[in-house]
Parts: sequence; structure tokens; C-alpha cells
Amino acid sequence: MFAAGTMLFASCSTSPESEMDAFIDDLMSKMTLEEKIGQLNLPASGEIITGQAKSSNVAERIRKGQVGGLLNLKGVERIREVQKQAVEDSRLGIPLLFGMDVIHGYETIFPIPLGLSCTWNMEAIEKSARIAAIEASADGICWTFSPMVDICRDARWGRIAEGSGEDPYLGSEIARAMVRGYQGDGMKRNDEIMACVKHFALYGGAEAGRDYNTVDMSRQRMFNDFMPPYKAAVEEGAGSMMAAFNDVDGIPATGNKWLMTDLLRNDWGFDGFVVSDYTGVTEMVDHGMGNIQDVAALSVNAGVDMDMVSDSFMGTLVQSVKEGKVSEETINTACRRILEAKYKLGLFEDPYKYCDLERPAKQVFCAEHREVARKIAAESFVLLKNEGNILPLQKKGTVAVIGPLANTKANMPGTWSVAAVAQNIPTLVEGMKHALGDKVNIITAKGSNLMSDAAYEERATMFGRSLGRDNRTDKQLLDEALRVAAKADVIVAAIGESSEMSGECSSRTELEIPDTQRALLKALLNTGKPVVLTLFTGRPLVLNWEHKNVPAILNVWFGGSETGSAVADVLFGDVNPSGKLTTTFPQSVGQLPLFYAHKNTGRPLAEGKWFEKFRSNYIDVSNDPLYPFGYGLSYTTFEYGDVKLSANSMDANGEITATVSVKNTGKYDGNEVVQLYIRDLVASVTRPVKELKGFEKVFIKAGETKEISFKINVEMLKFYNFDIDYVFEPGDFDVMIGPNSRDLKSARFTVK
Ligand code: BGC
Repeated sequence: MFAAGTMLFASCSTSPESEMDAFIDDLMSKMTLEEKIGQLNLPASGEIITGQAKSSNVAERIRKGQVGGLLNLKGVERIREVQKQAVEDSRLGIPLLFGMDVIHGYETIFPIPLGLSCTWNMEAIEKSARIAAIEASADGICWTFSPMVDICRDARWGRIAEGSGEDPYLGSEIARAMVRGYQGDGMKRNDEIMACVKHFALYGGAEAGRDYNTVDMSRQRMFNDFMPPYKAAVEEGAGSMMAAFNDVDGIPATGNKWLMTDLLRNDWGFDGFVVSDYTGVTEMVDHGMGNIQDVAALSVNAGVDMDMVSDSFMGTLVQSVKEGKVSEETINTACRRILEAKYKLGLFEDPYKYCDLERPAKQVFCAEHREVARKIAAESFVLLKNEGNILPLQKKGTVAVIGPLANTKANMPGTWSVAAVAQNIPTLVEGMKHALGDKVNIITAKGSNLMSDAAYEERATMFGRSLGRDNRTDKQLLDEALRVAAKADVIVAAIGESSEMSGECSSRTELEIPDTQRALLKALLNTGKPVVLTLFTGRPLVLNWEHKNVPAILNVWFGGSETGSAVADVLFGDVNPSGKLTTTFPQSVGQLPLFYAHKNTGRPLAEGKWFEKFRSNYIDVSNDPLYPFGYGLSYTTFEYGDVKLSANSMDANGEITATVSVKNTGKYDGNEVVQLYIRDLVASVTRPVKELKGFEKVFIKAGETKEISFKINVEMLKFYNFDIDYVFEPGDFDVMIGPNSRDLKSARFTVK
């Protein structure tokens, strides 16, 4: 068959598309129905097993041509060996896809995606994906289950950590950047890998923030707020898409033809393949969609091409074809899509394209990549509070780094970092020492367990991410911490969530800092020494108490393998923080879901009021967030001028320029994310009070003023109307510019 491939490559009069078609036609003409169905399976390699998966005899199945790809097998030598089995021992020698969750880096780990999004730096985000692709491909992986582009507005959902936050516009820009970073110039090179956009669709809308829960949303919300990032990734040429676990409009995504075929393929023109999520096909039995044969047929008929792990395609599709429940044409289409992906990746030309045994030593976790990860980590941190400019710290004296997150390696990378090698990752304290050398004396203590409830702590530190529960009593731990603190000039409290308190199946109903750590923080504050809270978290937390009582709070999310050095860079002023939140921090869990782009309602509050009877509000807490979307401080200050418009009106083909001056009024040079929001004042459907429509990250020197301009055209004013047509409606619009979604200056224009 490779001879056939070579022959086809030799003929230059045909287009690459038709060469591919001819090659696949020829290959498929030799395939039995069983072999075609064989291509539609993605079993686990047996290494990393979650959910309801059962282990299976994968090697035997590869020889029989019953496997299309393998999931989460790590190590180029092993991958090469398995590829050899597929190529040499199966009848047709069709190479396998090797897929892995390379979500925010491979061994060099970047911040969790939610943190990464807070850089608002598309170049940096693309670069992180590029480096992830270089490392993963060096180690044999040709396919990553990323980007995760699910919009989420409910901080209870643990997987908010894996996405880019609440905003569809920013989420779309990030989705595009990630796809570009992974696939590079179309997966031609051996360091470019195929992206898999997930989880299609609406997974982040799980009811009550409980993972895998039902999603029920209007088409309006779906198309205006949740669908744009998936669509953007498709437009960017993503090679594959993963079906979500949840149902959409009453039909599980994995069996939802409207979603997988009508919308994805027919409306959006997606030409890659769709893989189910892990056991997603057989989970439809529990959804109440029939028996295993029924749900496998439902899935493939809906347009899902590959079954991740559940083996239901393998076990039932031959029978379903015989019984006329699935047509051979449907199987052919799915098989063709998998073969096309392999062809596009160049695996027919060279099945060992990603199996260069020399590459890992040079490219995986190399100094150059770690340096980039350190810079990006520092850029992802969000300074939430800095009373009395306690930060940056001076590089002198003794600093006590105290808390359960201070000395853990396994928790630095954050959730979904399956390829990370924990023992290679510096702890926070090790990283800080590395960055600061002997300029600062760093001393440390654990101070408390993660929480007092040991059983909860165990659930929150699964997958080898244990912090090592300390058998000492809370008092003993605290006494030690206070002895250490007594010797210090400044205290850095390293507290928050463990990395597995967010991520998959880590939903929470209470979002405060766990009890033992709050007690530790109080005791540290009582010493009267300056305390900086270095907050680890995979989601927005409820930080009212901390905001009131702690002078400085730096939210570092989970910063990846270089967290420690990056924290030192920011705390000691080598890097001026510039991260801005991409998710709203609530005052109370009871406000959730909470997001800036809400509708006005018929009973909005009057300006300046937080409560009025018979208005849309609560009687106990204002509607305001604690920290709004887009918020983040710097060591310097920026002053915004008024919004100036190039004209007050335009026609539908026109363009208006909105300009503001931004002055750096502080002592430090710094980056500022200037944000543009628009409100459509009157429309045929109710519209949000503001929506992000543009942003620019600019470097402004101390004392300098920059003019920042945004072009506004009708494309930016379009939305999905009641009939789900993407339209523009003339009328008045407010344009708002500022440093976050709350503190904005505005001007009005009309489109005729
Ligand atoms: C997750 C996916 C992931 C897959 C494979 C599932 O549990 O939902 O995001 O890609 O496992 O590991």
C-alpha cells in the first residue's frame, strides 16, 4: 500500500485533494467491513484509565485491524513499537493515530488554560501550543485533545480551569491561536500535530455546575454566547472535534445529528472527523437512549466517526449494518474521515514521522521551552489587591513562604497535565530560590493541611497529586509556621486549592478557601508582618474575607512547571503583573452563574443602588462581582482619557474609529490590556448590557501616554436573532473602553 502512496505522490498533474481521494479510494477498496469499522476505534493504551473504561487486549486488536488510534500512550520508543505492529503485522498495514491530552503543555507545562487566557496575549498562547506540539510530537504524539473551548459562567464547575473563561469573543480568539499553534502550517512538518476541539457542545453549561450534568439552554444563548469558539476553531481548520458528554436539547451530544451533522458539517463546513469523549457512546445507555447496539448506531448515524474507549462500535456495528440500522455508506464515510486525517498528517507517507528517537532528549522539557513557560506563567498571574503598594517586594532579608502549596511538586502544573513528570518540577520554594539566588533568605513551613476533612482532601488530591497529609495536629502545624514566620521580614502565604480541586469531576458547592488554610492565614496576619497571599486556584473563588483582610493578593492559578520562578519574578518586581481576569469572581456562590455580559431585564437597578424592592436583585448581597471580568492590577497605574469617535454615525458599509489615550501615571513600565465593549441599545431580541468586541495589550513606559484606536464595523455588531439568523440591525450603540468590564468610559454612535 505504501507503493500505491508513492505512486500517487509521483503523479503531479492532480490536486493534493484528488490525490488523497484516489489514495483512500484505493485503500478502502481493499478493506473489509470489519476493517473499516476497525478504524473507528480509539482504545486506551491501558496506562491512563478513567471513568467506566475496561482494559482490553490492544495488541491483538491492532494486529486484527480493529484499532484506528491509541489514547494516552507515553514515550516515543513504545509508540514506535506499537506503530510497527500496526504497519507490519496487520493485513493492510494502516498506521495508527496516537492521541493524548496535551492540554497546556507536554512536559514543559504552561499555566492551566484559564490562567493562560488571562494573559490576553494571543502570540504567547499560540507559542505555548506550538511548544506543546513540538514536545508531544518529539515523543510520538500526533494528535492532541485540545483546545478545550467550552464557555463557562459557573465557577462551581471544576473544568472551568481547562477553558478560556466566560467570554465568546476572547474564547474564539484563543481557540484560533491554539489551533494555529498545534497544527502550524497544516500538519506538514513532523512537529505539527492535529488539534481536537472540545467538548462539542455546551459542556460548560452543565446545570448547577455539576460535571457531566444536563445542559438546557435557549438557541439564543447557545448561538450568541456558547457556540462561537467552536465555530472559530473550525474556521481555523481544526482537524478533529470531540463530542461532549452532556445532552443538548434533550439528545446527548454523542448521538445528536443536528449538532454533529446539520450544524457542524452542513452549516459550518467542518471537514475533519468527530471522536466521542471517553466512553461517551455507551454512556448514552445511562442517558436512556437504548441498549449498546442502539446507542452505537445512534452515534455513528449522527456523525460521530470514532469511539473513544467504549468499544461499542467494534462490538455492534457489523450487526447493525446487517440489520439495516446503519448503512455501509455511513461506515464508509466515517472510515474515510479517519483515513483522511492520517493522510493529512503524512502517516501513509511515513508512519514513523513522529517517531524520531533522537528528538525527545533535545526537545522535551528543554531549557529554551522552560524559559518561555516561565515568562508566560508570570504573564498569567492576576494581581487582585495591592494595598499600600506592599508589592513588589525588595530583594533582601528573609521571606517566609508558608502554606500547603509551598513545597509540593505534583501540584504546580495544575489539572490535566498527564505528560508532566512531577519529580522534575520545582516546588514553589525551589523555584523561588532558583530565581532569587542568595539575595533573599527563603524559609518555609507547611502551616496546615489542605483542609480539615481528610476524606475531602483525598478526593481533592487524586491522580498522585496528594500534598502528603500531615499527621501532626493543626496546632502543631500552626506553631511551626508561626516560629518560622517570626524570623521573617515578609510572609508569602502559599494557599488555595490543590490542583485536583478543579478539573474533571471536581465540582464544588462552596468556593471559599478551605477552613484550615483560612485559619492559617488569619494567624499569619495576626503576626502583624506584611502578608502576601499567593493564591493557587483553578477557578474563581469567593474571596470576600481575604479581600477585606489581606493587603496583597496575587492569583497565580496553577502556573505550570515554572511556577516557582515566575512567582518570584512577579513578587520581586522583575515582571510587572499584567494578567486580567477572564472569568468573574463572585461575592457569593449564590450569585452563580455570574457573568458581565448579562441582560438588562425589565427591572434593572437604578445607577448607584444595590437594592430596591421589586427590582432584579438579592436582599442579602449586591449583584456586583467581587472582581469583574477583565480586572487585574499592575504595579503602575493607568489613566484613561475619554472615548473619541471619528464620527457619530455610519452606514452599514462604514467604519468608525474609537480612540482613547492611556497614560501610565505610576513609577513602573507596564503592559495594559485595553478593552472595548459594545452595547446594542435597541434590537429585535434582548441584548447584553455590554459585550467584549476588541482588546489590545500595550506596553506603556512610566510617564508615557499612548493613543489606542479600535475600528468598529457592522460585522462586530451582528448577532443571532430570534430565527437564529446572523444579522445586523441598525440603531444606536454604546461603545465603552477601559481597563476592565466595570470601569469604562463610553460614547454613543448610530448606524443607519
Ligand atoms: C475528558 C476529555 C479527555 C478524555 C481523554 C475525558 O474524560 O472529558 O476531555 O480528552 O477524557 O483523556
